[in-house]
Amino acid sequence: MKFNDLREFIVCMRERGELVDIEGADWDLEIGAITYLSSLTSKKPPCLLFNHIKGYPPGFRVLTTVRHNRMAGRLIYGVDEHLSDDEAVLLWRERMKQYEPVPPVEVATGPVKENIISGDDVDLFKMPWVRWHEHDGGRYVCGTSVIMREPESGYINLGSYRFKLIDRNRIVVHIGSGHNGDVIRKRYWSRGKSCPVAISLGQEPAIFMIAGTSLPWGAAEYDYMGWLRGAPVEVTKGFYTDLPIPATAEIILEGEMLPPDGGSEIEGPFGEASGYYGGGARPSPVTKIHAILYRNDPIVIGDPPLIVEGSGQNVLYSRSIDVREELEGLGVPGIKGVKHQYSRNIISLEQSYPGHAMRAALGSCGGGSGGYHVKMVIVVDEDIDPHNIEEVFWALATRCDPESSISVCKGTWSYAIDPALPPEKRATGDYTSSLAVFNACRPFHWKQDFPRTTRISEETRKIYEAKWGHILKS
Ligand SMILES: Cc1cc2nc3c(=O)[nH]c(=O)nc-3n(C[C@H](O)[C@H](O)[C@H](O)COP(=O)(O)O)c2cc1C
Repeated sequence: MKFNDLREFIVCMRERGELVDIEGADWDLEIGAITYLSSLTSKKPPCLLFNHIKGYPPGFRVLTTVRHNRMAGRLIYGVDEHLSDDEAVLLWRERMKQYEPVPPVEVATGPVKENIISGDDVDLFKMPWVRWHEHDGGRYVCGTSVIMREPESGYINLGSYRFKLIDRNRIVVHIGSGHNGDVIRKRYWSRGKSCPVAISLGQEPAIFMIAGTSLPWGAAEYDYMGWLRGAPVEVTKGFYTDLPIPATAEIILEGEMLPPDGGSEIEGPFGEASGYYGGGARPSPVTKIHAILYRNDPIVIGDPPLIVEGSGQNVLYSRSIDVREELEGLGVPGIKGVKHQYSRNIISLEQSYPGHAMRAALGSCGGGSGGYHVKMVIVVDEDIDPHNIEEVFWALATRCDPESSISVCKGTWSYAIDPALPPEKRATGDYTSSLAVFNACRPFHWKQDFPRTTRISEETRKIYEAKWGHILKS
């Protein structure tokens, strides 16, 4: 579904009862705490729009829980809300096969240029930066879409990275090593230049969703966003950089990522997607902001990680689809479902030859989405729904023989925010981990003899549901 800007999305969510307005919260911990609590109390947390933030003009707002709202995912990806998670993933995969790039169109100007502050007038404190968690090292934006240009090919990359506020015109970023944005900034630095950057703090959600999705190196993210929303993204040239910025964005910060010898400030700690302050606090190169562009009454998207199992209802946003693509791209047959959640892949498959489950497990870690700091792969049979954690654990507890069903690989791809990274490895920059494969499938060689489950058959279920379903539902 196409939203022209974040405001249309907000109206749509409000109309559907999927958005709660909150008045008068404090940027200092309160917005973060309310967002966190809402994910604890609701398995399908609504989007939260914080109005009248303490110390800010009434119109300056923060919107949270965009990524975690199930309905938002269904609307953005255009998938019927009644489909199960697995059906939604399957449908979306089929659509992806028809992918046709829809390049952005350049427009002369847009609402994002309603206000422009530049040079000495830049004051980042004008925007509601939030201290999200009790032990965060400062005020952060964590729902960004960051626009950069690769210096040689000119390809435009978008990624989502957190930034910490340092002072009126300086911020520091955390970009995991190996992310496209990290490779690009280092290419400028190796040429002795700083890296031009435009940081969008709020814009229509399709852009944010795709910025946070791992597309391969060189993939034109704006084209993909255009295809997703069914119409080209309108971009306009930045004010300080000439980077293409979304014309209807709420706020754009423009500036340069200075090379490491341009000075450093402490980045972190921050409550990370792992559920820990794993990355700690480290000196990081500074990003200097030269211009702030913003709409009247701007809205910042804040999307702090919510780790509560089940609150990640927006399965279409998750990388599950990408991991499945990667796996099937290797030609592994029989894949019934894939769930990727932070640091783990769960694969459901119909085994058809010895070693099939292990091939799928290792294959799922071979790509950019499924391999990135994955520590645990669980393979289950085709009758197990990989999105249903209770079922997955049932299979683990009943079909797995720990001595022979668990295998460990060493020296695997990880990164600095891994909470279990030993201090001595962190000190030397050895961001490798290990990976456990849990084969929770019925053992292939004797699966025909494996005891039947006590599950009711489809046919029997249908008969008795037709007869008694009305009583069971009430
Ligand atoms: C809300 C959100 C916040 C994120 N924060 C970070 C971050 O601070 N640092 C980081 O390296 N990746 C972060 N990610 C993950 C990256 O945005 C994601 O891996 C993206 O694909 C990286 O893009 P790139 O490979 O084009 O650089 C975040 C993702 C989301 C959705």
